[in-house]
Amino acid sequence: MKHLIDITDLSLNELDDLLKLAEDIIRNRNKYSEVCKGKKLATLFYEPSTRTRLSFEAAMMELGGNVLGFSSASSSSVSKGESVADTALVVSKYADIIAMRHPKEGAPYVASLYSEVPVINAGDGGHNHPTQTLTDLLTIRETKGRLDNLTVGFCGDLKFGRTVHSLIKSLARYENISFVLISPPELVVPDYIKDEVLKKSDIPFREVLNIEDAIADLDILYMTRVQKERFFNEADYIRLKDTYILTLDKLANAKPDMKILHPLPRVNEIAQEVDSDPRAVYFDQVEYGKFVREALIMTLLGLSA
Ligand code: CP
Repeated sequence: MKHLIDITDLSLNELDDLLKLAEDIIRNRNKYSEVCKGKKLATLFYEPSTRTRLSFEAAMMELGGNVLGFSSASSSSVSKGESVADTALVVSKYADIIAMRHPKEGAPYVASLYSEVPVINAGDGGHNHPTQTLTDLLTIRETKGRLDNLTVGFCGDLKFGRTVHSLIKSLARYENISFVLISPPELVVPDYIKDEVLKKSDIPFREVLNIEDAIADLDILYMTRVQKERFFNEADYIRLKDTYILTLDKLANAKPDMKILHPLPRVNEIAQEVDSDPRAVYFDQVEYGKFVREALIMTLLGLSA
């Protein structure tokens, strides 16, 4: 039995197979419509979500399976004090696979130790969000045609943005990748990512304050929202929340084939006028998320069409 807790749980070959499967699902949807018949996915969400939970549920339904679960801790026996370990063991008696989101780093890993079925980390605190990374990788592959030879800019809350951490770890494994990390000093990428991922593998990166200082070099611009829910101090959030607002003016020097991604939800960091720019792919990204989660469910359940 295999779980997905961290994106590096998948080898590069496994990742490549999974993305190829997602691409086949996109192009041959009918072929997969009954692959999960009789199977159940449990979504255990202790934190709010729109895309991740609903795309997991839509993915399982499109594969012919069923879904059960809860969308907040308050509507489950967690509110009576039940532990993550007990919850995972109990739910694994009802479902064939579990997707869990939790505000505490490591909670899905704990669940995986007790569950009798595969557990997928659907986001744990400010730590990791591996299925968003699968979504991002599929989006880049589908829109740029490659995952190597890219200059990737991350902009916004690079400290608490768990999607950023997972995507850096993942892209760092491909050839000729460099990063531009665009953030205020208070929201820089954590040292453990810089030391254990970037410096350790000699991946070129630079840290800058302004989008304008980087935009012309980028193949991918990955925008992020400032993560209000992870701040200890509201005054700091208010001071930093609008540091970056991407407008058409700021894209003036960007490459014509650069792609703009965002894990969403967006708050103010991308002006609506950018949505109709052909470089904006963040709403396509949402749909790629459903297809890649279909591929992941099939892979972890050992199913094929
Ligand atoms: N990208 C993402 O994780 O969105 P949700 O919080 O809506 O699931």
